[in-house]
Amino acid sequence: MMLMGDKNPIIMTVVDEGSGDPLSKKSVPSEEPSEFVSLRPKTLKEYIGQAEVIETLAIAIEAALKREEPPDHILFHAPPGLGKTTLAHIIAEEMGVNITVTSGPALDKGGDLLGILTHLEEGDILFIDEIHRLPRVVEEFLYPAMEDFAVDFIFDKGVHARSHRYRLARFVLIGATTRAGLLSAPLRERFGIFRTLDFYSEEDLVHVAKRSAALLNLEIDMDGAYEIARRSRGTPRIVNRLLKRVRDFAQVRGDGIAHKDTVREALALEGVDEVGLTVLDRKFLKAIIEFYKGGPVGIEAIAATLHEESDTLVDVVEPYLLKTGLLTRTSSGRKVSREAYRHLGFSIQQGLFNSK
Ligand code: ADE
Repeated sequence: MMLMGDKNPIIMTVVDEGSGDPLSKKSVPSEEPSEFVSLRPKTLKEYIGQAEVIETLAIAIEAALKREEPPDHILFHAPPGLGKTTLAHIIAEEMGVNITVTSGPALDKGGDLLGILTHLEEGDILFIDEIHRLPRVVEEFLYPAMEDFAVDFIFDKGVHARSHRYRLARFVLIGATTRAGLLSAPLRERFGIFRTLDFYSEEDLVHVAKRSAALLNLEIDMDGAYEIARRSRGTPRIVNRLLKRVRDFAQVRGDGIAHKDTVREALALEGVDEVGLTVLDRKFLKAIIEFYKGGPVGIEAIAATLHEESDTLVDVVEPYLLKTGLLTRTSSGRKVSREAYRHLGFSIQQGLFNSK
């Protein structure tokens, strides 16, 4: 038997949910470590920042609830740690439906996806993280599922081929991607709501730090919260991670309270500098300065120099450096800015860049 997407029919392999399949599937309530879950906002009201996205979602959810039908499919685009997964869980919570979580790379066969789709109930959410890494054959299988809430099977081949359409419950697909540009146009166009999450303002991160500190039973003063916010690369996930290290440090080396100096000392130990750059961020900028005279240089060359995956550099390191202007991207490659030289303690002389 074969499965048919819009274009290429594919051979269906296993559709056996009983066996230990490789998919990271789960439903809410999720079974993540309790500390992690407790720091995540669970409702739109608890969510700090991304005001316009939150308003879009609040309207879509309220309208859907009024009409008693599921909202459109939703695509979130953002660098890691800005809240894509959190928002998917919040939407499920607000709609009162189940959420099944998987990711592009985990779905390597159309049959994997079929097993999930056929178990979704009316209004349920399917969350696909890293949707840009969905294999093409699975992506094409998703088109009729998203558009017509149906999947097509083909039995036999050639003149004997017969097709059968299998109806699915009307589900909501929420996709998350760090690279919207890698999504094919047909897939992108099937999402009714497509929103990009921006890096958070310092003010919003101060709020996140205070909220999370309260949940962690950590006393933090205003300067302490500000210092964490300033060093968290515009990213709430980093606030929460650093906050836990600060809590440890404050308990062991301080008076248990996250003052500004406690934060500074704790984060210095973590390799996080004054403006929040990590060891990898600095290695990245230094490599361009020391090996490539400040650029322009291609990402693959930098990746080879650092022994890192270029995807990690593009997804994790570059977005914040680009946002702060420490790095620029030109048609001929990556270049570091004068500000990056200054920040790393390098001098610029006669148009040639020399390290001190
Ligand atoms: N924890 C992580 N992200 C958050 C957010 N956007 N609002 C509140 N708490 C958070």
